[in-house]
Amino acid sequence: MGDSPDFPHLPVMTIGELRCETAARLRAVAGDLAAFEADRLLGHLMKCGPTELTLRAALSVTVSEEDQLARLIANRLTGRPLAYVLGHVEFYGLDLLCDSRALIPRPETEELVAVSLDRLPDPASVIRPLIVDVGTGSGNIALAIAQQRPDVRVIATDIDHGALSLAGENRRRLGFSGRVTLLAGRSLAMFRPAPFADLIVSNPPYVVPGDPNIDRSVIDFEPHVAVFAGPSGLEILFELLAEAQTLLKPGGWFVSEMGYDQGNNIRDFLLTRPAWAEPVIYRDLACIERILTVQRVC
Ligand SMILES: C[S@@+](CC[C@H](N)C(=O)[O-])C[C@H]1O[C@@H](n2cnc3c(N)ncnc32)[C@H](O)[C@@H]1O
Repeated sequence: MGDSPDFPHLPVMTIGELRCETAARLRAVAGDLAAFEADRLLGHLMKCGPTELTLRAALSVTVSEEDQLARLIANRLTGRPLAYVLGHVEFYGLDLLCDSRALIPRPETEELVAVSLDRLPDPASVIRPLIVDVGTGSGNIALAIAQQRPDVRVIATDIDHGALSLAGENRRRLGFSGRVTLLAGRSLAMFRPAPFADLIVSNPPYVVPGDPNIDRSVIDFEPHVAVFAGPSGLEILFELLAEAQTLLKPGGWFVSEMGYDQGNNIRDFLLTRPAWAEPVIYRDLACIERILTVQRVC
């Protein structure tokens, strides 16, 4: 910020004015969230939160800051999701790099992390438990678990090399290169069929292609390999369950995110699979069935 000495005749705006103008411009894409998004863009630029924006409302911005903001707004007005425009997202208290190489981590997936942490063996009962995160995307689940449980090792896999490169950047930035291993490949096919994992977690693609409930911005901007499964939506989840039953140690847990209408099909599938017991499906904060946990018994 400053008085723009290079452009003394240009009218400069205050932070407060720019905040209002940005919110008005974003209304077309952000609707009721326009003011919130305006604060996120301005805060990103000024490196501060909304309270400080209020406290600094009467200060002028520089022409260069105005230009940078105009570019961010123009990018957002294409419909690109805010997290991709900002290049960062917060997940389970971690600041993650976020771009179109991987799905934007969702708040409901934080619940998947919380449930997984709850199912992990106690540090006193298992030394250095091994977790597998299938379809790691940005690395959000793997890194959040590693952050919360310093005793665990995590193998994070993805079929998509772009996603793995982003996960690698996040892993390096957050200092988890020693405890989080990244592997390329489909589902769990890269592992020898022998029990080694204490917990397998996944947020697999589970949307049926053509589902009319999917936001336009997801279709236009997020990787389709991260979103869409096959015609039932359950192909990848069932493939993972079939493979996980030989890779989990007896007593180990499989934890997965799932689609809002898939609960009955999943319960029916598990009823005919004696390797699995105690299936529980948790609802998310919107009261939608969202997280499956099931235990390998034999
Ligand atoms: C819904 S995204 C989840 C990304 C991240 N874990 C999250 O929670 O935000 C699914 C991820 O699985 C990957 N994927 C899709 N099919 C896969 C498969 N058969 N095996 C492994 N990964 C797969 C995609 O590339 C994508 O990164």
